[in-house]
Amino acid sequence: MLTSPFAGSLTSLLGEGAMNVMMKRNLLLLGLACALGTTFAARVRGEAGEEVGRLAELMGWKAGTIVADIGAGDGKYTFAAAGRVGAAGRVYATEIDAKKLEELRNEVAKRKLANVIVVESKEVDTNLPAACCDAIFLRRVYHHLTKPVEFDANLVRSLKPGGRLAIIDFPPRAGLEPVEGVPSNRGGHGIPQKIVIEELSAAGLKVEKIVDDWPEDDYCVLFVKR
Ligand SMILES: C[S@@+](CC[C@H](N)C(=O)[O-])C[C@H]1O[C@@H](n2cnc3c(N)ncnc32)[C@H](O)[C@@H]1O
Repeated sequence: MLTSPFAGSLTSLLGEGAMNVMMKRNLLLLGLACALGTTFAARVRGEAGEEVGRLAELMGWKAGTIVADIGAGDGKYTFAAAGRVGAAGRVYATEIDAKKLEELRNEVAKRKLANVIVVESKEVDTNLPAACCDAIFLRRVYHHLTKPVEFDANLVRSLKPGGRLAIIDFPPRAGLEPVEGVPSNRGGHGIPQKIVIEELSAAGLKVEKIVDDWPEDDYCVLFVKR
Protein backbone atom coordinates (compact mmCIF):
# COMPACT_ATOMS: atom_id res chain seq x y z
CA MET A 1 0.00 0.00 0.00
CA LEU A 2 1.50 3.41 -1.02
CA THR A 3 0.84 6.31 1.35
CA SER A 4 2.89 9.50 0.49
CA PRO A 5 1.15 12.30 -1.53
CA PHE A 6 3.78 11.88 -4.31
CA ALA A 7 3.23 8.13 -4.37
CA GLY A 8 -0.51 8.79 -4.32
CA SER A 9 -0.44 10.93 -7.49
CA LEU A 10 1.86 8.45 -9.26
CA THR A 11 -0.39 5.61 -8.17
CA SER A 12 -3.42 7.30 -9.69
CA LEU A 13 -1.37 7.78 -12.90
CA LEU A 14 0.08 4.28 -13.16
CA GLY A 15 -2.26 2.19 -11.08
CA GLU A 16 -1.34 0.61 -7.71
CA GLY A 17 -0.16 -2.71 -9.17
CA ALA A 18 2.38 -1.09 -11.51
CA MET A 19 3.65 1.20 -8.72
CA ASN A 20 4.19 -1.71 -6.33
CA VAL A 21 6.13 -3.64 -8.99
CA MET A 22 8.29 -0.58 -9.73
CA MET A 23 9.09 0.02 -6.04
CA LYS A 24 9.88 -3.63 -5.41
CA ARG A 25 12.24 -3.64 -8.40
CA ASN A 26 13.99 -0.46 -7.17
CA LEU A 27 14.37 -1.90 -3.66
CA LEU A 28 15.81 -5.07 -5.16
CA LEU A 29 18.33 -3.06 -7.23
CA LEU A 30 19.31 -1.00 -4.17
CA GLY A 31 19.83 -4.17 -2.12
CA LEU A 32 21.93 -5.69 -4.88
CA ALA A 33 24.12 -2.57 -5.16
CA CYS A 34 24.68 -2.52 -1.37
CA ALA A 35 25.57 -6.23 -1.33
CA LEU A 36 28.06 -5.80 -4.20
CA GLY A 37 29.65 -2.76 -2.51
CA THR A 38 30.05 -4.65 0.77
CA THR A 39 31.52 -7.70 -0.95
CA PHE A 40 34.02 -5.54 -2.87
CA ALA A 41 35.10 -3.64 0.28
CA ALA A 42 35.50 -6.91 2.20
CA ARG A 43 37.53 -8.43 -0.64
CA VAL A 44 39.91 -5.43 -0.76
CA ARG A 45 40.28 -5.48 3.05
CA GLY A 46 40.68 -9.24 3.03
CA GLU A 47 43.35 -9.27 0.30
CA ALA A 48 45.48 -6.56 1.95
CA GLY A 49 44.99 -8.23 5.33
CA GLU A 50 46.08 -11.63 4.00
CA GLU A 51 49.14 -10.22 2.25
CA VAL A 52 50.18 -8.26 5.34
CA GLY A 53 49.67 -11.41 7.43
CA ARG A 54 52.08 -13.25 5.17
CA LEU A 55 54.54 -10.37 5.31
CA ALA A 56 54.31 -10.19 9.12
CA GLU A 57 55.14 -13.89 9.35
CA LEU A 58 58.02 -13.61 6.87
CA MET A 59 59.51 -10.57 8.62
CA GLY A 60 58.88 -11.81 12.16
CA TRP A 61 56.63 -8.96 13.34
CA LYS A 62 55.31 -9.14 16.87
CA ALA A 63 53.04 -6.87 18.89
CA GLY A 64 55.21 -3.80 19.44
CA THR A 65 57.22 -4.08 16.20
CA ILE A 66 58.00 -0.79 14.46
CA VAL A 67 57.29 -0.95 10.75
CA ALA A 68 57.49 1.47 7.81
CA ASP A 69 55.31 1.21 4.70
CA ILE A 70 57.20 3.24 2.08
CA GLY A 71 54.97 4.67 -0.66
CA ALA A 72 51.83 3.73 1.23
CA GLY A 73 49.40 4.87 -1.51
CA ASP A 74 45.83 4.69 -0.21
CA GLY A 75 47.04 3.15 3.06
CA LYS A 76 45.40 -0.29 2.74
CA TYR A 77 48.62 -2.06 3.75
CA THR A 78 49.48 0.49 6.45
CA PHE A 79 46.11 0.01 8.14
CA ALA A 80 46.39 -3.76 8.03
CA ALA A 81 49.95 -3.48 9.45
CA ALA A 82 48.76 -1.14 12.23
CA GLY A 83 46.28 -3.81 13.32
CA ARG A 84 49.04 -6.42 13.38
CA VAL A 85 51.61 -4.51 15.47
CA GLY A 86 48.98 -3.22 17.88
CA ALA A 87 48.98 -0.27 20.25
CA ALA A 88 52.53 -1.00 21.46
CA GLY A 89 53.83 -0.95 17.88
CA ARG A 90 54.01 1.78 15.26
CA VAL A 91 53.67 2.10 11.50
CA TYR A 92 55.32 4.92 9.58
CA ALA A 93 53.36 5.49 6.35
CA THR A 94 55.39 7.48 3.83
CA GLU A 95 54.27 9.08 0.56
CA ILE A 96 55.77 11.43 -1.99
CA ASP A 97 52.46 12.41 -3.60
CA ALA A 98 50.85 15.45 -1.92
CA LYS A 99 47.25 14.39 -2.57
CA LYS A 100 47.83 10.86 -1.27
CA LEU A 101 49.58 12.31 1.79
CA GLU A 102 46.56 14.45 2.59
CA GLU A 103 44.17 11.53 2.09
CA LEU A 104 46.34 9.31 4.28
CA ARG A 105 46.37 11.92 7.07
CA ASN A 106 42.58 12.31 6.83
CA GLU A 107 42.04 8.56 6.93
CA VAL A 108 44.36 8.11 9.93
CA ALA A 109 42.44 10.85 11.79
CA LYS A 110 39.08 9.34 10.78
CA ARG A 111 40.11 5.90 12.01
CA LYS A 112 41.69 7.43 15.16
CA LEU A 113 44.89 5.42 14.62
CA ALA A 114 47.31 6.45 17.36
CA ASN A 115 49.99 4.02 16.14
CA VAL A 116 50.30 5.37 12.56
CA ILE A 117 52.62 8.27 11.67
CA VAL A 118 52.35 9.76 8.19
CA VAL A 119 55.64 11.05 6.78
CA GLU A 120 56.29 13.09 3.63
CA SER A 121 58.91 11.30 1.55
CA LYS A 122 61.29 12.96 -0.92
CA GLU A 123 62.82 11.63 -4.12
CA VAL A 124 66.13 10.84 -2.39
CA ASP A 125 65.06 10.50 1.23
CA THR A 126 62.46 8.58 3.19
CA ASN A 127 62.57 11.33 5.84
CA LEU A 128 62.38 8.60 8.48
CA PRO A 129 64.47 8.91 11.65
CA ALA A 130 67.74 6.93 11.78
CA ALA A 131 67.46 3.40 13.21
CA CYS A 132 63.70 3.81 13.74
CA CYS A 133 62.46 0.54 12.29
CA ASP A 134 62.51 -3.20 12.89
CA ALA A 135 60.93 -3.76 9.48
CA ILE A 136 60.47 -1.70 6.32
CA PHE A 137 58.48 -2.76 3.27
CA LEU A 138 57.97 -1.32 -0.20
CA ARG A 139 55.03 -2.82 -2.07
CA ARG A 140 55.15 -2.02 -5.79
CA VAL A 141 57.16 1.12 -5.02
CA TYR A 142 60.79 0.19 -5.71
CA HIS A 143 60.31 0.37 -9.49
CA HIS A 144 59.07 3.99 -9.04
CA LEU A 145 62.25 5.17 -7.31
CA THR A 146 64.04 7.75 -9.41
CA LYS A 147 67.16 7.96 -7.21
CA PRO A 148 67.53 4.39 -5.92
CA VAL A 149 71.16 4.65 -4.77
CA GLU A 150 70.49 7.60 -2.43
CA PHE A 151 67.09 6.26 -1.41
CA ASP A 152 68.52 2.83 -0.55
CA ALA A 153 71.18 4.41 1.67
CA ASN A 154 68.36 6.11 3.59
CA LEU A 155 66.37 2.89 3.88
CA VAL A 156 69.41 1.17 5.38
CA ARG A 157 70.01 4.10 7.76
CA SER A 158 66.41 3.81 9.06
CA LEU A 159 66.71 0.11 9.85
CA LYS A 160 67.85 -0.98 13.30
CA PRO A 161 70.76 -3.47 13.32
CA GLY A 162 69.17 -6.84 12.57
CA GLY A 163 66.18 -5.05 10.97
CA ARG A 164 64.59 -6.39 7.79
CA LEU A 165 63.57 -4.88 4.48
CA ALA A 166 61.03 -6.50 2.15
CA ILE A 167 60.70 -5.50 -1.50
CA ILE A 168 57.47 -6.67 -3.09
CA ASP A 169 57.55 -5.95 -6.81
CA PHE A 170 57.18 -7.44 -10.27
CA PRO A 171 59.32 -7.84 -13.41
CA PRO A 172 58.60 -5.37 -16.25
CA ARG A 173 55.11 -6.05 -17.62
CA ALA A 174 53.89 -5.54 -21.15
CA GLY A 175 51.06 -3.05 -21.57
CA LEU A 176 52.13 -0.74 -18.74
CA GLU A 177 53.44 2.76 -19.45
CA PRO A 178 57.17 3.17 -18.62
CA VAL A 179 57.79 4.98 -15.32
CA GLU A 180 59.21 8.46 -15.84
CA GLY A 181 62.62 9.36 -14.43
CA VAL A 182 63.77 5.90 -13.29
CA PRO A 183 67.17 4.43 -14.33
CA SER A 184 67.14 3.04 -17.87
CA ASN A 185 68.13 -0.49 -16.80
CA ARG A 186 64.59 -1.32 -15.48
CA GLY A 187 63.47 -2.44 -18.93
CA GLY A 188 59.86 -1.17 -18.69
CA HIS A 189 57.24 -0.74 -15.96
CA GLY A 190 58.44 -3.00 -13.18
CA ILE A 191 61.89 -4.19 -12.13
CA PRO A 192 63.78 -7.45 -12.56
CA GLN A 193 64.42 -9.15 -9.21
CA LYS A 194 68.13 -9.37 -10.06
CA ILE A 195 68.46 -5.54 -10.10
CA VAL A 196 66.67 -5.20 -6.74
CA ILE A 197 69.15 -7.69 -5.25
CA GLU A 198 72.19 -6.01 -6.82
CA GLU A 199 71.21 -2.51 -5.68
CA LEU A 200 70.26 -3.37 -2.10
CA SER A 201 73.27 -5.65 -1.67
CA ALA A 202 75.46 -2.73 -2.83
CA ALA A 203 73.72 -0.62 -0.14
CA GLY A 204 74.93 -3.10 2.48
CA LEU A 205 71.96 -5.48 3.03
CA LYS A 206 72.08 -9.28 2.89
CA VAL A 207 69.46 -11.34 1.08
CA GLU A 208 67.69 -13.55 3.61
CA LYS A 209 64.91 -15.08 1.53
CA ILE A 210 63.36 -14.89 -1.94
CA VAL A 211 59.68 -15.70 -2.36
CA ASP A 212 58.61 -16.12 -5.97
CA ASP A 213 54.97 -17.06 -5.40
CA TRP A 214 53.83 -13.81 -3.81
CA PRO A 215 50.15 -12.81 -4.50
CA GLU A 216 49.25 -11.27 -7.88
CA ASP A 217 52.38 -12.63 -9.61
CA ASP A 218 54.66 -10.38 -7.55
CA TYR A 219 57.90 -11.52 -5.93
CA CYS A 220 59.13 -10.64 -2.46
CA VAL A 221 62.82 -10.30 -1.61
CA LEU A 222 63.66 -10.17 2.09
CA PHE A 223 66.89 -8.47 3.20
CA VAL A 224 68.49 -8.13 6.62
CA LYS A 225 70.81 -5.47 8.01
CA ARG A 226 73.70 -7.28 9.70
C1 LIG B 1 51.95 1.56 -7.36
S1 LIG B 1 51.76 2.60 -5.97
C2 LIG B 1 51.76 1.42 -4.64
C3 LIG B 1 51.01 1.91 -3.43
C4 LIG B 1 50.95 0.92 -2.25
N1 LIG B 1 52.26 0.57 -1.79
C5 LIG B 1 50.18 -0.32 -2.64
O1 LIG B 1 50.80 -1.39 -2.81
O2 LIG B 1 48.95 -0.24 -2.80
C6 LIG B 1 53.34 3.38 -5.84
C7 LIG B 1 53.34 4.48 -4.78
O3 LIG B 1 54.69 4.88 -4.50
C8 LIG B 1 54.69 6.26 -4.26
N2 LIG B 1 56.09 6.72 -4.44
C9 LIG B 1 56.82 6.84 -5.55
N3 LIG B 1 58.06 7.28 -5.29
C10 LIG B 1 58.14 7.43 -3.94
C11 LIG B 1 59.16 7.85 -3.03
N4 LIG B 1 60.37 8.21 -3.46
N5 LIG B 1 58.85 7.88 -1.71
C12 LIG B 1 57.63 7.53 -1.26
N6 LIG B 1 56.62 7.14 -2.08
C13 LIG B 1 56.88 7.08 -3.40
C14 LIG B 1 53.70 6.79 -5.28
O4 LIG B 1 53.23 8.09 -4.95
C15 LIG B 1 52.59 5.74 -5.20
O5 LIG B 1 51.63 6.05 -4.23
